[in-house]
Amino acid sequence: MTPATDHELSPVLRKQDAPLLRVENLSVAFHTRNGLVRAIEEVSFEVPAGKVLGIVGESGSGKSVTALSLLRLIPSEIAEISSGSVWFGGRDLTRLSERELRRIRGREIAMIFQEPMTSLNPIASVGAQLREPMQLHLGMKAAEASRRVEELLDLVGIPQPRKRMTQYPHELSGGMRQRVMIAMALSCEPKLLIADEPTTALDVTTQAQILDLLRSLQSRLGLSIILITHDLGVVAQFADNVQVMYAGRAIEQAAVAEIFRQPAHPYTEGLLKIVADLEAECGRLSSIEGTVPAPHELPPGCAFAPRCPRSDTACTASPPPLSPISPGRRCACVRPVGFPQFRASA
Ligand SMILES: Nc1ncnc2c1ncn2[C@@H]1O[C@H](COP(=O)(O)OP(=O)(O)OP(=O)(O)O)[C@@H](O)[C@H]1O
Ligand SMILES: [Mg+2]
Repeated sequence: MTPATDHELSPVLRKQDAPLLRVENLSVAFHTRNGLVRAIEEVSFEVPAGKVLGIVGESGSGKSVTALSLLRLIPSEIAEISSGSVWFGGRDLTRLSERELRRIRGREIAMIFQEPMTSLNPIASVGAQLREPMQLHLGMKAAEASRRVEELLDLVGIPQPRKRMTQYPHELSGGMRQRVMIAMALSCEPKLLIADEPTTALDVTTQAQILDLLRSLQSRLGLSIILITHDLGVVAQFADNVQVMYAGRAIEQAAVAEIFRQPAHPYTEGLLKIVADLEAECGRLSSIEGTVPAPHELPPGCAFAPRCPRSDTACTASPPPLSPISPGRRCACVRPVGFPQFRASA
């Protein structure tokens, strides 16, 4: 037996209660004309087996860069992983060869994106596209793969699957196309599904149907899911745990019920006020003044401080680290809202 290399040895992942995925201090920087610009900084989180992690944050906060970097889907000429590890199945994905990673992409970890039209091939039939990953990864023969395609289309709620298999993406509605994407993602029975804004291009009713579908598949198949969304309402319905991101950093992590009971970061508090106003159908909606700073314009302290109604001089020294504030909760704020004990010891 060949000795294990160090990227196969995650002592943490050998424990019984180990999470399916553990991301440690992941930083990613883009190559730009002005040199390397950090898009995400020291992001760490876990996804337990069979659980849903919601990742929320405004546009530009680093949600997609985080998701894409887990499978090294941003070409190295465009961006580099400057530090960190992505532990999955006892291996650090940041250190695998491209060949080793190809065996994991689509097979053990699958992704679905916001706009299925850009991910589906317009000149191949639905059946041909769905058969391909199973033939490639699982070595299935065409006839066996076709039978499985029919089952998968049925699983994701597409009526008349045999007829749909012969059709092309443009012949399907947006909701149907997203169901095809989900079927494709599930075709090789992945352990982890990463869904990056899977419903924002759809109307509200179809959005709800797709989320219901994902939820029922998650519990039937025991899948783990990372669900990326702008919408805390979606997180409330769908996720077990949540990570809030801001300007490339994870700034709050908690169980969903906890964060709704008591948001700790003033940014999360602001996001929740907007959701509460929407639900109450208020005439005047709350908003968070200003925008997320671009990666090359970050202030020296907490990146949210310039927009934060609670900020003072303590916030402008250096970015507060993501620190434990209660069991299972972490927050990157010098004075987390509703946690006076933490304030006293900070
Ligand atoms: N190709 C690129 N070159 C340079 N910077 C980039 C590139 N792609 C993304 N970025 C930067 O990385 C940061 C994070 O972007 P990301 O796409 O992860 O945001 P997001 O949270 O997914 O936003 P959205 O909600 O709009 O999808 C942004 O500041 C963005 O400008
Ligand atoms: Mg995105």
